[in-house]
Parts: sequence; structure tokens; C-alpha cells
Amino acid sequence: MADWMIYGATGYTGTLVAEEAVRRGHKPLLAGRSEGKLKPLADRLKLDYVAVSLDDTPALQKAVTAVAAVYHAAGPFIHTAAPMLRACLAGATHYLDITGEIPVYQLAFSFDSAAREQGVAILPGVGFDVIPSDCLLKYVADQLPDATHLEVVVDALNTASGAGTNTSAGTTKSMLEILPRVGNVVRREGNLMNIRFGEGARWFQFPYGRRYAMPAPWGDVEMGYHTTGIPNITAYLTFPPSLVRQFRLVGPLLRLALQAGALRDLAGQLVDRQMTGPSEARRSSGRSWVYARVHNTRGEMRQAWLETVEAYRFTAEAGVRVVERVLDGSYRGALTPARAFGADFVLEIPGTRRHDTMPTQ
Ligand SMILES: NC(=O)c1ccc[n+]([C@@H]2O[C@H](COP(=O)([O-])OP(=O)(O)OC[C@H]3O[C@@H](n4cnc5c(N)ncnc54)[C@H](OP(=O)(O)O)[C@@H]3O)[C@@H](O)[C@H]2O)c1
Repeated sequence: MADWMIYGATGYTGTLVAEEAVRRGHKPLLAGRSEGKLKPLADRLKLDYVAVSLDDTPALQKAVTAVAAVYHAAGPFIHTAAPMLRACLAGATHYLDITGEIPVYQLAFSFDSAAREQGVAILPGVGFDVIPSDCLLKYVADQLPDATHLEVVVDALNTASGAGTNTSAGTTKSMLEILPRVGNVVRREGNLMNIRFGEGARWFQFPYGRRYAMPAPWGDVEMGYHTTGIPNITAYLTFPPSLVRQFRLVGPLLRLALQAGALRDLAGQLVDRQMTGPSEARRSSGRSWVYARVHNTRGEMRQAWLETVEAYRFTAEAGVRVVERVLDGSYRGALTPARAFGADFVLEIPGTRRHDTMPTQ
């Protein structure tokens, strides 16, 4: 019998994770809501599968209780995390997901005590969002224990060089769900605070040149607080200045428009038709970068850079290693990746390098 399950295995990312799992000698149970999609994947990878809807509580409970851990890859998680979290807690099964959605991190951490009582781990965000940035920000924060401010900059799209990634349908649909609910947020004095789209955008230096970046609701705004306790956190995503100007103009309107569920659904259908996720060539050649810095009230500063493989490839390769850790360890309660495994965990993912000074290229 399989000791772990990938739910949402037939999605773009779930399939990458299943393939990586097989490469590393695992035999996870493939799961999802559509038997028609699961069977061909299970046949190709020679794995067992179970078709079960998240709405079918008894069947979901039975499937989840039969494994030691669930790797949940079916998003947008705002619609899928709660039933799976409940099933995992009831079944004393570890829960892992790859959400980047702030409300889902909050939901996951609200189950911390329940998870401890049940003796299981809840690990949201074990993908590119947020393993690299979470490990890097812990690395710099550990060097300055009285840091009051943290900034983290993610260059996953690496837009100017063209060497980065583009997003999958699932990632884009998650953004469409989160934008109207969360807007744009930073953390100030321990609390999440809304700011205008494009506010605070500025240039940051990377080894391959300067990149323009704007504050965005990236997972570190929530997870970085659990990891470090630093009360002021801004997470930036790199975008060309022209795109940031457009965000400034259309961001508020888009947020308003997407509050209508019907428009969100329509946009989601368009996304499903248009967005296929990065090609294999892009996943093989793309690089992603993260920069983190902290400072304290005396003006002392620590910084570091992290370089990884392309974001979806990273997600698959890191995800299977997280499952291995969880199955072999004794993790309990709701945890961030860096709190669970330490700042150096990210260095175990092939192709990852950390730099204390900016490398020259
Ligand atoms: N943290 C990270 O770095 C990271 C990296 C990659 C992806 N992600 C997140 O992972 C999620 C999936 O991304 P993706 O690229 O794999 O998207 P995708 O290709 O659209 O796949 C989504 C999967 O979720 C399933 N699903 C969606 N809603 C469901 C529901 N209500 N019940 C059951 N299954 C449901 C889909 O099943 P059907 O085919 O039956 O619709 C499909 O298998 C997104 O939320 C994305 O943001 C995060």
C-alpha cells in the first residue's frame, strides 16, 4: 500500500511531483476528482489511483486515513484546503500543500493545536512559494536576532532575461481568487496592512543586472512572520516598470471586478484555455533568484541571495524531499518549511546556491 498520496495529481504541478516521486523510487497513490484523468497518468507511471471528490467526506476520509501523508496539489486552495485539512486531522495524516494563498496559510496555522494533539504536521507552502524565500529569510534573520524589518525579493519570472518561467493555469487562477480577497499587503508592526498596487516599487540589484520589483502578497508576508517573528515584512516580485505602471492603474479596478464570482469564473475558464505552464525546455533552463535582507533599529543589515532551478521544477524536486523528511521524522503542528527543516534545507535541492555577497556573472 502507498504511504503517501498526491491529491490533484493530474494538474500541471501534481504531475511533475508524481514524476519526480517515481524518479526517486516512491510509489505514491495518485488522487483527484476525475477518474478519466487519473487512469492514464496512473497507467503511464504504474501507480495506483483513487478518484475521490473533496465534497464526498466519507470517501475522502477513507482515502486519507489509509496513507501517512497527503501532498495536496489541487488549487486554488481557497476552495480545496479546508476539506483536506479536516480529513487529515481526523485521520491522523500529515498534511502538505503548495499553496501561496495568504488566507490558506492562516487557515493552516489555525489548526496548529489540533495537529499537535493528533501528532501530525501541517506544512503549507512547500513549493517554490515559499521554500527558497523562507529558508533564505531565516538564514539572514538568524544573523541579526533583533532585526525589525525584512525585505524579500523574488525574481521567479526573470522577465528581462527571458530565462525564467511563466505561470501555470492553476497558479494564475489562484492569483485571481486571492486578488479580490486580499488585495496587496505588507506586514507592519505585526499586522497585515493593505497598500496600493505599485506602491513602494523600486530597483534591486541582482547578479545579472537591476530588476524593478513591487510589493506583492507573496507568501512570505505571512509565513516569514511565523518563521522569524520580524514585525515588518515586505515581499517584492520583479516586474518590468511598464507592467508596474499598468498595475497601478488597473489593479484597483481588477480587484473590484474580480469580486464578482461570475467574472472570476469566466477569467478562470479563459486561463484554463490559454495557460499551459512552462515547457520542459523552460523548466530545464530557467533559473529563479531570491534576495533577502533584514535590518534593525541601529541600522545594522544582513543580506543574501539564493539561486534555484526554474520555479515549477524546484517545486517538484523540493516537494518529494519534503515528503521524505516528514515520513522519516517526528514533525508536529503547523510549520513553515524553514522552521521545520532549517535554513539550509533549500541547499539540498539540486541546482540551489546561496551567496553572502552578490556573485558576479
Ligand atoms: N507554491 C508554489 O510554488 C506552487 C507551485 C506550483 C503550483 N502551485 C499551486 O498549486 C495549485 C495547482 O497548480 P497547477 O499548476 O497544478 O494547476 P492546474 O494544472 O490547473 O491543476 C489543478 C489541479 O487541481 C484540481 N482541482 C482544482 N479544483 C479542485 C477541486 N475543487 N476539487 C478537486 N480537485 C480540484 C484539478 O482537477 P481537475 O483537472 O479535475 O479540474 C487539477 O488536478 C495552484 O493553486 C498553484 O498556485 C504552487
